[in-house]
Amino acid sequence: MASQNQGKSQNLAAVLQTPKARLTTVSRPIPIPGPDELVVRNYAIAANPVDWKIQDFGAVINKYPTVLGSDGCGVVTAVGSAVSKFRIGDRVTGFAAVIYNNNLNHGAWQTYTVLREIATTKIPDRMTYEEGCVFPMAMATSAIALFVLLGIPRPTGQLTLQKSGLLIWGASSSVGVSALQLAKNLGFKVFATASPTHHQYLRSLGAFDVFDYHDPAVVGKIAASARSTGAPIKLAFDAVTEGTSARQSADVLTAFGSAGSKLVLVLPWSEKETKPEGMEISMTVAGRTGTDKSELGAWFFNDYLQNALRDGSIVPAPKIEIAGGGIAATQKVIDKLKAGVSGKKLVPKPKDHHIYYFKMPLFALPLSTATKASTSARVHFTSRLPTRKRKRASSSSSEEDDAQQYSSGLPAASTNPLSLTPDEIAQYRLAGLDLNEEIPNVPGWPHRRLPAEKKWFTPDVKTKERDRKGKGKGRVNDVEGEDGDNKAVPVQETNRALHGPKLRMQHLSVLTAVLQRCIQEGDIPRASRAWALLIRAQVAGAGVDIRSSGYWGIGAELLTRGGETKARNRFHADSDSDYEADDEDNSNVRDRELNEGGWGSKDGREMAKAYYERLILQYPYKRQFHGSVSALDFWPAMVTCEIYGIQHERQQSLKRIARAEEKDEDEYASDSDSDVFEDAESHVSEEDGDAAAIEQRRKDKRNWRKAEKIWAQKDEARQTALLAAENLAGRMDELMTSPPFSDSQTLLRLRGMLALYIGDLGVPAMPIQEYGEGNDTDRRFSIRQGISDHERGKRNLVEEQTKARKLFKKIADSGEDNLDLGGLYLGDDQDEMDVSDEE
Ligand SMILES: NC(=O)c1ccc[n+]([C@@H]2O[C@H](COP(=O)([O-])OP(=O)(O)OC[C@H]3O[C@@H](n4cnc5c(N)ncnc54)[C@H](OP(=O)(O)O)[C@@H]3O)[C@@H](O)[C@H]2O)c1
Repeated sequence: MASQNQGKSQNLAAVLQTPKARLTTVSRPIPIPGPDELVVRNYAIAANPVDWKIQDFGAVINKYPTVLGSDGCGVVTAVGSAVSKFRIGDRVTGFAAVIYNNNLNHGAWQTYTVLREIATTKIPDRMTYEEGCVFPMAMATSAIALFVLLGIPRPTGQLTLQKSGLLIWGASSSVGVSALQLAKNLGFKVFATASPTHHQYLRSLGAFDVFDYHDPAVVGKIAASARSTGAPIKLAFDAVTEGTSARQSADVLTAFGSAGSKLVLVLPWSEKETKPEGMEISMTVAGRTGTDKSELGAWFFNDYLQNALRDGSIVPAPKIEIAGGGIAATQKVIDKLKAGVSGKKLVPKPKDHHIYYFKMPLFALPLSTATKASTSARVHFTSRLPTRKRKRASSSSSEEDDAQQYSSGLPAASTNPLSLTPDEIAQYRLAGLDLNEEIPNVPGWPHRRLPAEKKWFTPDVKTKERDRKGKGKGRVNDVEGEDGDNKAVPVQETNRALHGPKLRMQHLSVLTAVLQRCIQEGDIPRASRAWALLIRAQVAGAGVDIRSSGYWGIGAELLTRGGETKARNRFHADSDSDYEADDEDNSNVRDRELNEGGWGSKDGREMAKAYYERLILQYPYKRQFHGSVSALDFWPAMVTCEIYGIQHERQQSLKRIARAEEKDEDEYASDSDSDVFEDAESHVSEEDGDAAAIEQRRKDKRNWRKAEKIWAQKDEARQTALLAAENLAGRMDELMTSPPFSDSQTLLRLRGMLALYIGDLGVPAMPIQEYGEGNDTDRRFSIRQGISDHERGKRNLVEEQTKARKLFKKIADSGEDNLDLGGLYLGDDQDEMDVSDEE
């Protein structure tokens, strides 16, 4: 606790006194947040080229002294009165605003930085501060480039595969890896350039193809690759704008026709170069996420990035190099960055770095983070606070002075940044109390139960008897004291204490009965309420342990199924529905369609996933308690839920495609076909003048186009599922690198089955070619590409099957026969299987 307070006592800052000066380390006051701002205690800060550029050229900033730095990551220590999405104690990363608002409190190169709420993102608990600090500046730069300047629509939840390819020049840079991940998530085939040493890494982040920008023939190679895959490049982002990179990026676009193409740079286009005709060239500015595009900024940082970090669809990149030395070493770090880095981010840590924040979030209710944020009380300390009885382990007089200084100067409803240490916050949360509640005045609490509740579970016969009879008011009765002495206690109080457990136990049994019944009857909203009350209930000072009696599983089921009602309501309310609202048969069809082959809803599964993630963090595996329910049990449950979700979404997509096919046979004969038919018609009539042949040919062509479109739709569903499955497999592989997860039979089995699924999904159906390839060069290319993708998929399938066999063999070799291996795929050659390279 002492060290925590030490950490709080000063705000060291790397100050730039005048333009072009060297940085000096200065102790500054801890800043106070404005209404829509937070103060964050930084635990990691990332260096950006703009830092040394400002210092060298005296550009951007017009107010000195200043504190530079755009990327800070740490723990929220204070929030302004209008902040609604963050609380004290949240682990966050944020885009510090100094480069666009010139306010030195908003510079990241100090221990405490003010962040704007709209530029802040919560980081998941599994992410370190060093990892978390790599995002803000690079992501803001990429977000403006993609969503504003390239005009790509924001994602809607369902992955849409884009027709155009997207070029990212300099993809190994910090900005480049951010743009790459965004573009991949937006469904683009990304063509990237970087030095060869980063190619593999960039592929693992989702690049479709990567090229060495040092190669003189690089432009032609990129264009050829894009052509061969049927993804013409109409959009490009030059994430470095160095040397000839902008010119070369423009050349790639020109290869596909510069008209209608768009190129975004990170620096201005060189005046010496002529701009290609018809090409839109612009420059991104990260700060726009906080100025004219602040609505986009808020969506991006508060929602999109936060969710993407949580679900792992965006990971920390590039690789991190930790530079020690704390704030005092800032100048050294900036100089190092100026000298040039390759595919890495320099991250100095404040010197007194120690993780005193209790990283594990409190599990209160399995609500999604979004829901919780809006319902949970915000931490605004009022004048009540000074009267709160709070025990401090140690408190130096200077801290008290500081606290005095801040609390006295603030209006009643504002935040006192020095009120609680993160450790104290964690204790409050553990106890389930809001931070402005009074704590019970009981020595040893919360580790010791409340005295009035102590006897609740063990009333002896005498006590029970007294409990039955003792209804008189104000009588004095004998109750056995804690230490065995008989003490005179007013009957009224005794009865309250003695009735307490009985009533509560009754209350709990009623809730349990309600819960069971509602689940059976499918009344999920009511079951959820009962469950929430149950797990909040306290008996004898102790809450219900969610892990006992399978409550955790029930919670997951309720969350998963919670969205069913909403989905059904949406479905029923849909005025465009083909069904008549009061038609009983049709309503049965509706319900069947919603439920067919499915369980729960997509929203529900996502909430269940967030819930499992919390359980995993709250109950990590501990060797000494290996028998208790822990992350080792929650992981398989979460993985199963995700695999199920992936499969289900794909099945639903395939059903939708089949239904559309049935519904409208002519849908696929679009107007655009008419030209082709006319061509075909004139061609046939010239040759043989036979009307029947023309009709037949038209029919064949229509059928062929229809089959081709269905093929494309099914392939899109396959690719979406594949992407999700590979993402999950990556997370599992990371988890299963060490025991106990690497030895968990359930996880091995699930990973093996996932490998088989990935193998199957990786084989695209053969492209449709019945109608012949014709004279269309693009079509011939895409058919050939389709065939080669199919062949590559088959080779991958064999690799995935081998992987699966090894995993299943590992289970078999473990000698524990508690898992049925009968249904697992071990292949024909299981006897000869070589697993020697596995260990
Ligand atoms: N406009 C804005 O708002 C804004 C915002 C942020 C950054 N920026 C600017 O964007 C640039 C990149 O910033 P950053 O933080 O991402 O830089 P960075 O990570 O430090 O960039 C280093 C990377 O640049 C790559 N690179 C260098 N020359 C290249 C070339 N000719 N072609 C391809 N790649 C090349 C290197 O790739 P290899 O190692 O693979 O060779 C290296 O990995 C900087 O100039 C920065 O000032 C602008």
